[in-house]
Amino acid sequence: MESYRTGPETERLQHRAIIIDDAEAFFALNSDPDVMHYTGEPPLQSLDEARNAILTYPDFETVGYGRWACILKASGGFIGFCGLKYLPELDAVDLGYRFFPEYWGRGLATEACRACIEFGFETLKLDQIIGLVLPENAASIRVLEKVGMQLAGEITTEGETALRYEIRPDDQAIV
Ligand SMILES: CC(C)(COP(=O)(O)OP(=O)(O)OC[C@H]1O[C@@H](n2cnc3c(N)ncnc32)[C@H](O)[C@@H]1OP(=O)(O)O)[C@@H](O)C(=O)NCCC(=O)NCCS
Repeated sequence: MESYRTGPETERLQHRAIIIDDAEAFFALNSDPDVMHYTGEPPLQSLDEARNAILTYPDFETVGYGRWACILKASGGFIGFCGLKYLPELDAVDLGYRFFPEYWGRGLATEACRACIEFGFETLKLDQIIGLVLPENAASIRVLEKVGMQLAGEITTEGETALRYEIRPDDQAIV
């Protein structure tokens, strides 16, 4: 199995596996209440927790792909993550993303998501990618719609209901 620790490059972004040197930025991102608000995940509590999450992230070894760091080419800085994650409980590959608030509203999530979807279909030969989003997360829903995902149902886990969006290779949005 090939391990794709380097992901797609776009006009403004490079994607690569999250490394231990990203720990401080990864902690800042994943402990920011504004970022975590609609993710359904608890904020990280410490830098050690962030380091541990990075060091024990298994996906590049188990399935060969995962969430990638988004590196802004203009600065070389870690500005968030985006990528594809295999969810065994759904037997589906999920598109997930998270960016620092100062980078919101510039089309960066859309740019990263489009590239990850294309990578999923063209390199990984996936036949479907899903997106799970809380109904209140209007910005994220907009991103999913802009990249061509379509609402396909709801999933309730531990009392919380998320919308399930889907895209297949033939559905790719030309926008
Ligand atoms: C969701 C998120 C990734 C979007 O990132 P981004 O780089 O700002 O996204 P883009 O600029 O590519 O697109 C955002 C779109 O949402 C729209 N939008 C933003 N806030 C909105 C709101 N409150 N209601 C409706 N639309 C909204 C923007 O106008 C834009 O659409 P447009 O291009 O048609 O104008 C970012 O807000 C984020 O990191 N949020 C916290 C983490 C998170 O929720 N991740 C997703 C979990 S499912």
